[in-house]
Amino acid sequence: MALSTRHLLGIKDLAPSDISLLLDTAKQFKEVLNRPVKKVPSLRDITIVNLFYENSTRTRISFELAQKRLSADVINFSASGSSVSKGETLLDTVNNILSMKVDMVVMRHSASGAPHFLAKHIPAAIINAGDGINEHPTQALLDAYSMQEVFGGLKGLRVAIIGDIMHSRVAQSNIYLLSKMGAEIVVCGPPTLIPKYMEAAFPVRVEYNIDKALQWCDVANVLRIQLERQNQVLFSSLREYSLVYGINRERLDRLNRRITIMHPGPINRGVELDSDVADGDQSIILQQVENGVAVRMAALYLLSNPSS
Ligand code: CP
Repeated sequence: MALSTRHLLGIKDLAPSDISLLLDTAKQFKEVLNRPVKKVPSLRDITIVNLFYENSTRTRISFELAQKRLSADVINFSASGSSVSKGETLLDTVNNILSMKVDMVVMRHSASGAPHFLAKHIPAAIINAGDGINEHPTQALLDAYSMQEVFGGLKGLRVAIIGDIMHSRVAQSNIYLLSKMGAEIVVCGPPTLIPKYMEAAFPVRVEYNIDKALQWCDVANVLRIQLERQNQVLFSSLREYSLVYGINRERLDRLNRRITIMHPGPINRGVELDSDVADGDQSIILQQVENGVAVRMAALYLLSNPSS
């Protein structure tokens, strides 16, 4: 089986069969990661550069770990400390790196569409590790993998995506993936953080009342308030956001059902999630991080073996 694409730029253009192949392959790699010897030779002689033009903890580390578990040679590039500060363009930077015989590029950039631009100009396979407010495909895949682990499948699953929908590449990739795989989706947050066109453009329902969204869902995927991407005041204060939309123990205890709590990280503790919820027994946040390695191994493996 092979993916229908040679890059992983987003979930939008993937077929459901691609998503299933990625999730099934991740399951095999998760078994490998639970063995005493966690390393396989699948990407021996493949060289991969991790190009991070924007900060990251989870994605950067788990891509590097995935590459090392697959025996690839790994180069890490951060824009800070590089010749980007001297004015070197993205394309010049990448072409210089590729001239050293690099086979694949993993890229995070604050500009939406940066990996799509690169894919038109370079021969190497590209994985988007998050581009601006556009997509974060491997996050959506690891979220889906984690939901599958808990619920056995995605079809008919009720997922509430809560918070800063407007600035969230995680929300967009999750919506594409979950809708392609037959889940039901509600987006919930303050009206100023949900685009007006949401229901017209995406197969989702908008719910502004968080208690109704939580009562409806099986899974609440809670997003970070992305203050760094907001160039205007979209709610009065973090304290007010927390009071109206923050998820705390009391709010969960009022539900007559048990739901699963997810968050892509990093968490603003006490804003979108209280610590006793983030660290509580309904949270699978650290399982999401663990699954990120297996999911990224699957993406790297399948994109390096187009005919496998
Ligand atoms: N979820 C996520 O992308 O986290 P990082 O920004 O730490 O990579």
